[in-house]
Amino acid sequence: SETGCLSIVVLGASGDLAKKKTFPALFNLYRQGFLQSNEVHIFGYARTKISDDDLRNRIRSYLEKGSAKSEEVSEFLQLIKYVSGSYDTEGGFRMLDKEISLHEEFRNSTEGSSRRLFYLALPPSVYPVVCRMIKLCCMNKCGWTRIVVEKPFGKDLDSAEKLSNQIGELFEEPQLYRIDHYLGKELVQNLLVLRFANRFFLPLWNRDNIDNVQIVFREDFGTEGRGGYFDEYGIIRDIIQNHLLQVLCLVAMEKPVSLKPEHIRDEKVKVLQSVMPIKDEEVVLGQYNEVVLGQYHGYRDDSKVPDHSNTPTFASIILRIHNERWEGVPFILKAGKALSSKKADIRVQFKDVPGDIFNCMSSNHAIRILLDHSIRKSMSVKQPGLEMSTVQSELDLSYKQRYHGVTIPDAYERLLLDTIHGDQQHFVRRDELKAAWDIFTPLLHRIDIGELKPISYQQGSRGPAEADELLLRAGYIRTHGYRWIPPAL
Ligand code: BG6
Repeated sequence: SETGCLSIVVLGASGDLAKKKTFPALFNLYRQGFLQSNEVHIFGYARTKISDDDLRNRIRSYLEKGSAKSEEVSEFLQLIKYVSGSYDTEGGFRMLDKEISLHEEFRNSTEGSSRRLFYLALPPSVYPVVCRMIKLCCMNKCGWTRIVVEKPFGKDLDSAEKLSNQIGELFEEPQLYRIDHYLGKELVQNLLVLRFANRFFLPLWNRDNIDNVQIVFREDFGTEGRGGYFDEYGIIRDIIQNHLLQVLCLVAMEKPVSLKPEHIRDEKVKVLQSVMPIKDEEVVLGQYNEVVLGQYHGYRDDSKVPDHSNTPTFASIILRIHNERWEGVPFILKAGKALSSKKADIRVQFKDVPGDIFNCMSSNHAIRILLDHSIRKSMSVKQPGLEMSTVQSELDLSYKQRYHGVTIPDAYERLLLDTIHGDQQHFVRRDELKAAWDIFTPLLHRIDIGELKPISYQQGSRGPAEADELLLRAGYIRTHGYRWIPPAL
């Protein structure tokens, strides 16, 4: 049932993720009327012994942003109750269950069903025990219970499978929502539509026409404040194995039978299973640093990062998909921290036009899907004027210009709403997760034991020069002498 009293429990309520993402997303859903104050209650759970108001005050500043009015924020905060308890003993969870039940009885004096959503904004090391406690103490007796978990789901194939088994013994797959927030991004959700609702792309989307695909994530800041977490995981586990690989699936997969979540996820699994083992010579790893006056500054400055850390903060990796559509087309996944700019985009580069009669400087046509909301298809056109010469231009769909007054929802907002509606389309299925770890585990193990080492790169640069060389070897052509001119608002 998708109606009735709804209890949303945020475990790890005083942590970073909860404050920065979960509560703000819930607040935005509330503001837009998706969470009705007469049926929703939100429970924060964590170990710290604080009061309801303490928690509310900690969250407040994260909500009072943009157009949010402070009365709205206060109204929303009143929906939040706090329960403190440990993650591995029954006491706190029994208390939590009591609080939820009280709220359910109060709401359900007239009708019967209720819904319980548990959001684990916690380190994965406690997932199994927390799931056990929920199962033991907090199950909904007259309606659904769903569990939302965040990455990292394990560190490699074995640990991920172990985690999946432990949780799988307690909850069925339809109750489990593994979040990869990239799947909640507007432009990522647009990929299926672009690919399968445009006749234009259908015949071109294959090895005969596409030269290479790049999926790139860049950030212009380092691991500030997260060094402890990051050093254990590194850029491949933090970004590539999940976010970029999910995007790859949507770019490369075959057309699903329908839009049913299982149909879509079936196709994604097939792509992942067709990825060939990664070759050493198709990997470039980096770690940022800077030497100023003979002194080292960089990633390893973080007090939580060991002095001799081998953890990459940058990686460029070529994946090759062994199937009829993609044989021979490199998919270059690249991600880095502390680079010169911040962006995430997909670039699909087409092959040159055969028998070119225009002497195009570089035809080098690509479609770029920028996750911060634009799509650009580069085009060769005649240079306007009396002369017959060609110039590179583009078809440009910039959302800001095209869609006035439309607010694009945050990924977490959309995904949380999906969990409430029971739609698993944009969540990672267990076999998908396994296939994703299968691809990266051998490489990760070699990095973990120091067999592969990151090359140091300057903070604020493009990353190691070796990564650009890898791109060139893969056939990627950088466009020179062409600059995109932003359309006027
Ligand atoms: C998170 C990573 O999953 O994604 C972070 O742990 C990264 O390291 C973040 O900064 C990027 O997300 P977005 O939505 O800002 O691109």
